[in-house]
Amino acid sequence: MTETNDIKKGLAGVVADVTAVSKVNPETNSLLYRGYPVQELATTQPFEAVAHLLWHGELPTDAELAELRRTEREHRALTPAVQAAIELVPLDAHPMDEVRTAVSLLGAVDLAGSGSVLDASGSPEANLERSIRLFAALPAIVAYGQRRRRGQAPVAPRDDLDYAANFLWMTFGEESDPVVIDAFNRSLVLYAEHSFNASTFTARVIASTLSDLYSAVVGAIGALKGPLHGGANEAVLHIFDEIGQASNVSDWLEEALASKRKIMGFGHRVYKRGDSRVPTMKTALDELVEHYDRPDVGELYAELESEFVARKGIYPNLDYPSGPAYNLMGFDTATFTPLFVAARVTGWTAHIMEQLAANALIRPLSEYVGPDERHIEGYVPDAAEV
Ligand code: SDX
Repeated sequence: MTETNDIKKGLAGVVADVTAVSKVNPETNSLLYRGYPVQELATTQPFEAVAHLLWHGELPTDAELAELRRTEREHRALTPAVQAAIELVPLDAHPMDEVRTAVSLLGAVDLAGSGSVLDASGSPEANLERSIRLFAALPAIVAYGQRRRRGQAPVAPRDDLDYAANFLWMTFGEESDPVVIDAFNRSLVLYAEHSFNASTFTARVIASTLSDLYSAVVGAIGALKGPLHGGANEAVLHIFDEIGQASNVSDWLEEALASKRKIMGFGHRVYKRGDSRVPTMKTALDELVEHYDRPDVGELYAELESEFVARKGIYPNLDYPSGPAYNLMGFDTATFTPLFVAARVTGWTAHIMEQLAANALIRPLSEYVGPDERHIEGYVPDAAEV
């Protein structure tokens, strides 16, 4: 009789380690970044300040924020190597493959000549620098990805614009309205960090082998692409496009649930009575609906939410308001999850640095359920094996 381990599929409910980066509390439906409620951060702080908070554990002083902004501006521009790497990716490849490729190349260039694999993990100072470099470089990568698919040339960054405004400038080649900049900044803060979600845990597993920060981020990008995780914000728009308008929701939902479809943007492994981040992003969406005079989007959003919650008692997650918000801002649907990467790279790198400092390999057990031991016919072990 094999010993039956208490197997937790999907590690559901398993506390795998401690972290000081963030606290997700489903009981109080709250999320703290280094102790601060995310709602307070998203409505009062520029994304750069939240990045500093996640990396250093404290909000920046004015001088520290100015220094981070200076360094971020130094690394904003698309380098020739990264632009060339992006242009090697087929135009009809998924933009997440493009972002993953670009980050991988960034890492190869940055780590070139940095010694043997024993030096891969780097020092805390080097990893902070690498984190800032990725944070600074991703907007140009994501923006160029969308522009090249539209047959447009890259737009150079502008030093007179802060992170969110410059990201929008490089994507659309025009200055965005303050309402849009605020909504975008809010989404970046809300997407930045969420404890041991699948992509962050992936990054921690890679970092736990003392591999390099870039490898851990590339792995996390691969995990985030999936529609059960980050890919859901893109999938929400596909659903909105399928439904078309609020009056079609009931029939569409009837059919979708009958065919056992997962309704993207709803449900969560940890939050079971609603995602703490949704109200803050929904407010931003409401402001965008008004700004762009698109009541149809608000009606469809409300109808699908009320019908699905009434039928299944499953609540929206952050991807549900973010998808239509990014659509109204003008981002292509396939660009949505790369936007999530640009935000979450701050949380990922904070966790990677925390894991490297812990210096503890992550390696769970498994219970074997394959065939009993058996042998190759006619095999004769040699003397050394007996
Ligand atoms: C993110 O972990 C994080 O923190 C992630 C994230 C972050 O910030 O990093 O918050 C970001 O990934 C948000 C989630 C985005 N994904 C989606 O919106 C995809 C749709 N959601 C589902 O796939 C689902 O809700 C999960 C995967 C997110 C969570 O699923 P669980 O906790 O594993 O629960 P489950 O899949 O076991 O569902 C329990 C029941 C099932 O029904 P039964 O098989 O028991 O009859 O609820 C049903 C599920 O079918 N269900 C859904 C559903 N979500 C759950 N049914 C239809 N549509 C859904 N969205």
